[in-house]
This record gives sequence, structure tokens and C-alpha cells, in this order.
Amino acid sequence: MLDLLVKNATLPDGRQGMSIGVQNGRIAEVTAGLDAPAHETLDAGGYLLSPHFVDPHFHMDATLSYGLPRVNESGTLLEGIAVWGELKPTLTADAIIERALTYCDWAVAKGLLAIRSHVDTSDPSLLAVDALLEVKKRVAPYIDLQLVAFPQDGLLRTQGSVDNLKRALDKGVDVVGGIPHFERTSEQGAASVKLLCEIAATRGLLVDMHCDESDDPLSRHIETLAFEAQRLGLQGRVTGSHCTSMHSMDNYYVSKLLPLIAESGVSVTANPLINITLQGRQDSYPKRRGMTRVPELMAAGINVAFGHDCVMDPWYGMGSGDMLEVAHMGLHVAQMTSQKGIRDCFDAVTTNAAEVMHLQGYGLEVGCDASFVLLQARDPVEAIRLRANRLQVWRKGQLLAETAPVVAKLHMAGRPDGVGFLL
Ligand code: FE2
Repeated sequence: MLDLLVKNATLPDGRQGMSIGVQNGRIAEVTAGLDAPAHETLDAGGYLLSPHFVDPHFHMDATLSYGLPRVNESGTLLEGIAVWGELKPTLTADAIIERALTYCDWAVAKGLLAIRSHVDTSDPSLLAVDALLEVKKRVAPYIDLQLVAFPQDGLLRTQGSVDNLKRALDKGVDVVGGIPHFERTSEQGAASVKLLCEIAATRGLLVDMHCDESDDPLSRHIETLAFEAQRLGLQGRVTGSHCTSMHSMDNYYVSKLLPLIAESGVSVTANPLINITLQGRQDSYPKRRGMTRVPELMAAGINVAFGHDCVMDPWYGMGSGDMLEVAHMGLHVAQMTSQKGIRDCFDAVTTNAAEVMHLQGYGLEVGCDASFVLLQARDPVEAIRLRANRLQVWRKGQLLAETAPVVAKLHMAGRPDGVGFLL
């Protein structure tokens, strides 16, 4: 007897009429038309059953702090860093924890069950680190929260930063972060990449650096990151986040860079909502979009994921934890409007992001965790078009969240009483 049987589901790869049997929190069967006895049966009604969403790049210590202590009036990255610097001395662990837990509630409702969050390690008290380690513990029953030690104020430009970062790792932070483009010189940036990768190699940790979040085509720390990944045997364990300078780089240089990244097994995480907002700020017209070269990276065989980066914080006043909104923006900015391109954008917030995080048991295969989301859409293209309603969210066989189907009630003579958005 199965614990749960989901019937008549469409899967992201296009298979229809599929049944998924769940036993002990794991997927035990994936079969067309299976009708086995189960304690609970869910008729998916032909809707899309997807592995849950994954956000591989977020800042949970800053989330939901928009307007504190003031709004970022210019909307720039640098004013955002300045506002965050003004907020930091007033932060309390309780406030960080409360805001993070609220955000995690939003995330679950949106089917987002795995998040990699950077945590600022610049403050010697490591207040935010302790707060997010506590959040990680509290949300463990419903969200996989992975933390990255992130020296926001620079690793080498700020005294004590290396020590703070190492102490954060000692406390249990999972991943080594960095911000080479924010160091004082390019040489210092490269030196920070080398040092951080060596720390990761010594400790057996993954790496995820904010890398070249700049419009400067000569910001080339991704090259050093890829080289160090190869030199230290970290292939498949390193991610370059943002990489926006690649948008502005010379095409000849990029033709040399992409194979290097591919060889080194470095993943790239773009953050479409934030990149389109923060980059190109010093341009007049035309204004650059600033997002990294997503389709070209994918065509080169590089794993590319999309992150949310910010929700209602000093850098961004929008957002609700909806990774379909992220994918929607990504496909527009990258002009990935072919059917394959749209599906690639869906993968960027599901399977590709899971690969960045090294998630175990992710997917809809037999043996994977029974962690999935039923969307009010019939395929990934519709899911992104509609930023589809999450009808049900399941984790390891447990129902975590439900949202009623969306149907608008009409009051118009001669037209139907209600309207959905599927033809
Ligand atoms: Fe970020």
C-alpha cells in the first residue's frame, strides 16, 4: 500500500497521464496510468507536477528589510551596499530571524524548498551568521537552507575579514563566498579568489563567489575562478554568481573564456531581476541589460542557474519568493523566447539550480525525495507565462502548502461567468 498516489500528472519532460507513487517520503513508482492502492490519492487533473523550485542565490540576512533605515533612492548597487552598511549596526539576531522565517513561509507557499543564501561575514560579531544558522535549524523540516560565507565589505580590503570568514565556516556555514570585483585592485581581487579557493579546497567545501557584478568588461575574475577550480581539483564544486561583466566583454575574449569555464566545471548563476535593475546604471542610452550571456554559456555546456538574489532589501524593493517570476524575467532579458529557450529557463530555477547546490535526492525519478509542486499549468512554458499558481506543495511526502485554483469571476453580459487563463 502506497502512502500517496498522484494520478494524471504531466511531467516537465512532457510525459502525460503519469502516476507517481510515494512510500516513506520517497518516490517509489513513476508509471503511466498506475492505479495502485494508497492511503491518499491526488488527481493532478493533467496539470504540471514539477520538482520543487530551487533558489541558488539569495541574501536571507537582508531580506524584508526594505526601507530600513532608509530607501535606496538611486537604486544602485553601491548605494544599496551603503544602506546595508547603515542598517548593520542596528540589526538584532531576533529581527533577522523573524524576517527570514517570514520569507521562508512565502517560499514554501511558492514551492521554493531549497535556498542557497549568502550571509555577510564582515561584522566581527558574526551576528547575522549566528542568526541564519538558527534559521537553518528551524526551517530544516521544510526548506534546505545552504549558507555561503560572504565577505560583503571585501576580503582583503577590510582588516579581519579573512579571520571572520574562517570563523563563520568553523561555526557551520556550508560554502565559501567572495566578492573579488569589490577588492581595491584587480590584483587584490585575483588574490582573494586564489585564497578563498584554497580555503575551500583545504576544508572540502563548495565555492560560490559574487564574481564580476559590474559593467566593466575588464572585470575578469571569472577567469581566475575557473583557473583556480582546475588547479585545485574543484571541478563541479564552484559557482560564479552574477558574472555581469561578461555582458560587456569583447566577443573574442569571451570565445576563449567560455571553454575555460566549461573545462573547469564551474557553474554560473545569473540573477535576472537584479541584473536588469542594477546594471547599466551609468549608461545614458542605449542602456545595457547587464545580465551574463546565458544562452551562450548553456550552449557551451556550462550549468547555468537563475537566482532571486534579493526580495525587499536595500538593493531591490520587489519580489515574493516566486522563482517563476525570476525565470520569466530571465527569458525576456536573454531573449530566450524559443520553446527550448523557455524550457531552459524553467530548468534554470529547478534542475540546474539543484546541481549548483549539490542537492541530494532531487527530481522525479524513482528513489528521489517526494518533494514536488503541482502547478496550475500544463507545461513549463505555461508555468512561466502565467507565473502559475501553486496548487499543492509537497516535501518528502508531506503536504506543506495549498492554494485554491485561480479563476476570475466575470460580471459581463453575454460572456462566461468565470475565466481561467489556459486555452
Ligand atoms: Fe548576491
